[in-house]
Amino acid sequence: MDIRSQFNPDVLDPMETASIDELRAHQLDRLKWTVQHAYHNVPMYKARFDQLGLHPDDITSLDDLAKLPFTTKTDLRDNYPYGMFATPVEQVVRLHASSGTTGKPTVVGYTQNDIDTWANIVARSIRAAGGRRGDKLHNAYGYGLFTGGLGAHYGAERLGCTVIPMSGGQTEKQVRLITDFQPDIIMVTPSYMLNIADEMERQGVDPHKLKLRLGIFGAEPWTDELRKKVEERMGMRAMDIYGLSEIMGPGVAMECAETQDGPTVWEDHFYPEIIDPNTGEVLPDGEMGELVFTSLSKEALPMIRYRTRDLTRLLPGTARRMRRIDKITGRSDDMMIIRGVNVFPTQIEEEVLKIPHFSESYEIHLYRKGNMDGMEVHVELRPEHQALVDSEVHNLVKKLCHHIKSSIGISVAVNVRDIGSISRSEGKAKRVFDQR
Ligand code: DLL
Repeated sequence: MDIRSQFNPDVLDPMETASIDELRAHQLDRLKWTVQHAYHNVPMYKARFDQLGLHPDDITSLDDLAKLPFTTKTDLRDNYPYGMFATPVEQVVRLHASSGTTGKPTVVGYTQNDIDTWANIVARSIRAAGGRRGDKLHNAYGYGLFTGGLGAHYGAERLGCTVIPMSGGQTEKQVRLITDFQPDIIMVTPSYMLNIADEMERQGVDPHKLKLRLGIFGAEPWTDELRKKVEERMGMRAMDIYGLSEIMGPGVAMECAETQDGPTVWEDHFYPEIIDPNTGEVLPDGEMGELVFTSLSKEALPMIRYRTRDLTRLLPGTARRMRRIDKITGRSDDMMIIRGVNVFPTQIEEEVLKIPHFSESYEIHLYRKGNMDGMEVHVELRPEHQALVDSEVHNLVKKLCHHIKSSIGISVAVNVRDIGSISRSEGKAKRVFDQR
C-alpha cells in the first residue's frame, strides 16, 4: 500500500468528511490493531496487560480503552532507547528525541509508513490552516532531533508547497530570507515569531508589506491575547498547531481556517481522552483535565493511553466532525503554586498583554523570602513607549499588579526591564526562572 498516494492536496481526506459513525468504526478497527500490535511486540505492554488479566481480544468497543493501563514518559525513559519499539530497529528509518533537560532524552522512532502517514497528516494540517499547493513556506522550526523542523518540512512538501528549510536561529538572516523570498506561510513557535518581528522592526522592515498571510504556530503554550498581537503586528492569520514527539510530532491537532476555534484532533490517527490527573478517571467531554492519546496507526512506536501532562478539555467538532481541544492552559509540570494558589505562565501572559504599553516579552521569577514563595513578573515597554516618565511607568506597574491580583488572586512584584534585556526565544521560550 502506497501511503503517500492517499493524500490528495486538492480535496479533503475521506476521514475529514466521514460521519461520526464511520469515524468511530474506523477508530475501533484501528484501536484493535494497535492493541494487538503493541501486546505482541512490546514486552512492556504484554507484561502490563498480563498483570491486569487483560488480553487484546477483550477490546471490543472504544469504551474498553478505559480498562487499559496508561503509558508515561517514565516508561519511555525506563525502556531507553529502543525498548518500546514494536518493529525491529532495522525497519525504523528515523529517530527523533526530546531535549531531555533532566536525565535521559526520550527517543521516538518511525517506520517508512509512519513517516509517510505523518507527512500526510501535516499536509492535511497545513491545508486545514489555509495553506495551499504552490504556497511558499518558510520553516523556522528547528531541524534535528526536535520533531518540529522535519515534521513540518515533509508535510509541506507533501501538500506541494515550496519549502524554505530555514530552521531556528540566525534571526537577522531569517528576516533577510523572508524579505527576499516572500513566503506566503511561516511555521515557527509563537515566541520566536515575536523575536523575528522585533528584528524586522529593528531593520525597518514593515511586516504588513510582506506577502506572508498565514502563520502556523505551536510547540509551546500561547494565549489568544498573544494571537491577537501576532496577527496585528504581522498582518497575517495565526493558527494553532499542536503535537508531541511521543505521539508523532507536529500535527496531532490543527486549528481549521473556517472557524479558528482551537485545534481539531485528527481523531482517525490519535484517539483523545481527558482524565483527572490525580485519579486517572476518564472525564466527560467539556471538562478540564489531562490530555491522553492512543495512537491508531503507528507502527514503530504504538502508544496506548499516553499521558501528555497537557491540561485542556475536549470540545465538539465545528469545521470537522472530529473533536477539538481548547487552548492548552499549560503542562502540569509548569504549574506554579504560589502561596497556595495554582498559577500557569499563560495566565500571567494574558494579563501582561492586556496592557498595550508592554511588549510580548516577559519572564516569571520565583523566589522565597523566609518561608513565603513570591513571584516577580519581568516586563519591557514597547519601543514606542520608551519615553514614558517614571510616574506613568509606575501607574502601568500598579495596573498590572492589580489585574493579576484580581484575576488570579496572587500579589506579585513587577520589574520593568530595559528594552531588549529580556532574552528572546529562538524556539520554545523559557518563561519561568525558579530561584527557590
Ligand atoms: O513540540 C511538536 C510540535 C512541533 C508541535 C511544532 C507543534 C509545532 P515536543 O517537543 O515533544 O513536540 O513537545 C510537546 O509541547 O506536550 C505541549 O506541552 C507543547 N505543545 C506543543 N504544541 C502546543 C500548542 C513538539 N499548540 C509539548 N499549544 C506538548 C500548547 C503545545 N502547547
